[in-house]
Amino acid sequence: MAKCVKPIEGIAEPLVRWYTAHERAFPWRTEPTPYRVWVSEIMLQQTRIEAALPYFDRFMEALPTLRDLAEASEDVILKLWEGLGYYSRVRNLQKAAQQVMCEHGGELPSSYEELLTLPGIGEYTAGAIASIAFGKRAAAVDGNVLRVMARLTDDDRDVMQTKPRRELTELVRRLVPAEAPGEFNQGLMELGETICLPNAMPKCSERPVRDYCAVAGEERARDLPTRAAAKPRRVEQRTVFTVITEESPRRVLLHRREDKGLLGGMWELPNELVDATDTMLMLDTSGSVIGTKPLGSGRHVFSHVEWQMNGLLVKVNPFTPSEGYRFVTAEELSPYALPTAFRTYTAQLYQTLTAEEEVL
Ligand code: ADE
Repeated sequence: MAKCVKPIEGIAEPLVRWYTAHERAFPWRTEPTPYRVWVSEIMLQQTRIEAALPYFDRFMEALPTLRDLAEASEDVILKLWEGLGYYSRVRNLQKAAQQVMCEHGGELPSSYEELLTLPGIGEYTAGAIASIAFGKRAAAVDGNVLRVMARLTDDDRDVMQTKPRRELTELVRRLVPAEAPGEFNQGLMELGETICLPNAMPKCSERPVRDYCAVAGEERARDLPTRAAAKPRRVEQRTVFTVITEESPRRVLLHRREDKGLLGGMWELPNELVDATDTMLMLDTSGSVIGTKPLGSGRHVFSHVEWQMNGLLVKVNPFTPSEGYRFVTAEELSPYALPTAFRTYTAQLYQTLTAEEEVL
């Protein structure tokens, strides 16, 4: 028997009702100031809600206002972002805060169009801030929402492709109600996070909008949306050098990455592709290597590249490092936000620098 699916145009009212009754109490919801909503949305683009919560609290404690963010030093903002990855996001957050201080008198603009002009704010974030913090009628469509929409409408296209994404976003724009746009958008997100889960059968029995869903209760719901085969990630074999000095206190060599590109501008442990020739050259020319010891393997997966790493502890006599490199002691280490990618080798770094016994 053909299924009776209610027209999707009626979905706003039951969705908002369900969201209002079931919303989880997150700190950006209990106190949804534009600044807090904005920071939360940027954090949630790269991490799960549970993982973002401690970062959010710490961020708000350190930088409670947009002005504090605009005026913070780069070290402070990078440190607050340490472990979240995609450091360009927090840099853009600060750039945008500075722009808001200069051009908008310190108040985040409320319109979707003006929000879009700020660094790091794209269609999704502009829609989320405008609707959640300002009650403006705008859509906020992320991957979660696209999945929900693909299932509701039984759309078996790859929603990451431009055309289906644009069409589903357009559909959401039409559905957003004027009275409760923030609740509607967060209702769709919440649906995607708690009920209409990826690669799983939706928990349709609890589902507040089951009557509006073209695939409710059907096995194929799990397989929507379809995804075109992903391009395989590039794999890089890297050697990561923990270069420590033979002196008291010991120091470790850090390197600042180029501003552009992966981990742009971050401090790191010097590292090179295995077939590169120049890092050891840098050490060799200083003529100061005393000895080396392997530190084992590590792996880190970025969005487009995977690093397969081998660590090497290198003991050297102190030398003056070239530009972009710096020796620091254990005590000086903490302001440096060393990327999580190096965790295998940085986890023990403090101990290595402060150990009383010989480390190599
Ligand atoms: N994911 C991103 N933003 C969100 C929000 N405001 N509520 C729930 N999930 C989200």
